[in-house]
Amino acid sequence: MIKREIEMIIYNIVLQKWGDLKEMNLEVENPKQKDNGDYSSNAAMVLSKRLSKNPREIAEEIVAEVSKDAEYMKIFSKVEIAGPGFVNFYISDEKLFENVLEVLDKKEKFGKEKVGEGKTVIVDYSSINIAKPMHVGHLRSTIIGQALYNIYESLGYKVIGDNHIGDWGTQFGKMIYAYKNWGNKKIIARDPIEEMTKLYVRFHKEAEENKILEDLAREETKKLQNGDDENTKIWKFLVRESLKDAGKTYKMLNVKFDYTLGESFYNDNLKGIVEEAMEKNIAQKSEGAVIVNLDKFRLPPFLIQKSDGAYLYTTTDLAAAKYRKEKFKADKILYVVSNEQALHFEQLIKTVELLGYCDDVEMKHIKFGMVLGEAGKKFSTRKGDTVRLEELISRAVEIAKRVVEEKNPSLSQKEKKKIARTVGVGAVKYNDLSQNRMTDIAFNWEKMLSFDGNSAPYLQYTYARINSLREKYKKENKLDFLIPFKRPNMELLKEEAERDVLRQLIKYSEAIENAASENSPHLVALYVYNLASGYNVFYNSLPILKADKDLGRARIALSDAVGIVIKNGLEILGIDVLERM
Ligand code: ARG
Repeated sequence: MIKREIEMIIYNIVLQKWGDLKEMNLEVENPKQKDNGDYSSNAAMVLSKRLSKNPREIAEEIVAEVSKDAEYMKIFSKVEIAGPGFVNFYISDEKLFENVLEVLDKKEKFGKEKVGEGKTVIVDYSSINIAKPMHVGHLRSTIIGQALYNIYESLGYKVIGDNHIGDWGTQFGKMIYAYKNWGNKKIIARDPIEEMTKLYVRFHKEAEENKILEDLAREETKKLQNGDDENTKIWKFLVRESLKDAGKTYKMLNVKFDYTLGESFYNDNLKGIVEEAMEKNIAQKSEGAVIVNLDKFRLPPFLIQKSDGAYLYTTTDLAAAKYRKEKFKADKILYVVSNEQALHFEQLIKTVELLGYCDDVEMKHIKFGMVLGEAGKKFSTRKGDTVRLEELISRAVEIAKRVVEEKNPSLSQKEKKKIARTVGVGAVKYNDLSQNRMTDIAFNWEKMLSFDGNSAPYLQYTYARINSLREKYKKENKLDFLIPFKRPNMELLKEEAERDVLRQLIKYSEAIENAASENSPHLVALYVYNLASGYNVFYNSLPILKADKDLGRARIALSDAVGIVIKNGLEILGIDVLERM
């Protein structure tokens, strides 16, 4: 990665000239304006304070060191001083051209890095609740989580995806009560989630009028937790049916987990956790319940056992954190869960710290905003007002199908179907991943499925167009760009539009690393979008197949490389491409 190369170069020069200056934050950035180079370093300004020396003088010395080194100067065409003492770097043509050939050579392996080797990341995502429909709120966790999984994996980390399903707790008492009183096994088996939701909704409705129901449900929960046969059977049935149902959606979204360790998995560890916390004097009794006082962190107390003895979501998460460190040797745990649980995770992370369960583990709550309905209101589940994920995706596929019919009526039905599916699912995912995860997102069907603008279909279409270009070229020419004496003459790519694409192309792995360090898949989406729009400027303004032979060859090579990188980037986001559409 070129940015890191520059960081190393500066670091080495500083070390050699001024010695080891500890804890110095030397940053290399991408300047906003093109005439400030491709990369810019603030090293001289930072050093100036340390060395009590004029920053421009220091910058001059850095520039002199870089310029006299022939190896370094293979990377840069120009290194210069700007402003108060910035050092601006311009990538050399040699490097830009080499990069294109590297893309063509490595193909789907291009951009894979090793920075994460030897480190393990746990991604806790999707984490649906059993016996409840998987709603659009879980969509974000599932999609963002899988993208983060792919991002870390492509950087060489060992990644473990864990679906921390909500398969335990008080809602099961309610479900079991409802099932026993109003349920019908046959009807439930036909459409489990639909029926379970009805039962759940009915329970809440009736409980509003008849308070005793809550107590009866608590009884059922207790029985379940004590291993009662009948309740365990009902519970297992609910878990099985729910996971079967969710599995359909996961398949449609092409989402996979390495583990599905639900809350119930930690059941036997909870007692020990609370006891340990009490012994260590980290937790105290308070009105019969057990809490962890977090005053010194300015957080409300963390309730880990209720006065009736029941353990909670919180206790389970403590057990899970401990398990992940012990069993998986986690270096990082990412909890991909909505903003609404921000307080829970702040409390959890502090409590884990006090207990010493995850020393040297970076625990992070990967927050995200809500999914808003068309009217700008939150989608809700409680009152039965649910929008099912499955329906949502089917709708996207349906709209995509209409668009395809319109654009390309001559395709076979089978092909149209495949395209509609890939476009529809891609659109739903991209709509989510292209936006900063912290913001609330709305479902704007039109924008999501538009063929121009920042959407999956636009990117998929760009890819398909590159592919058809390649196929046309291939009819008369060979795509043997990698054979040494047949290499395309890239020096012919002198136009600004071509240069922009070349410069964008070299920043791929940087985008992936940035996305990892901020846990923000939208940086990958943004990268792919910028690459595609830069490419389309080139495509629309310059002849490719009709260009002179050698120039055309270089342009095809560039196009081919762009196609590969678009595909790789979309794959990280979990979005498929199509060879034609
Ligand atoms: N099942 C929970 C919910 O839907 C999310 C669980 C998130 N993961 C965790 N380790 N707490 O609200």
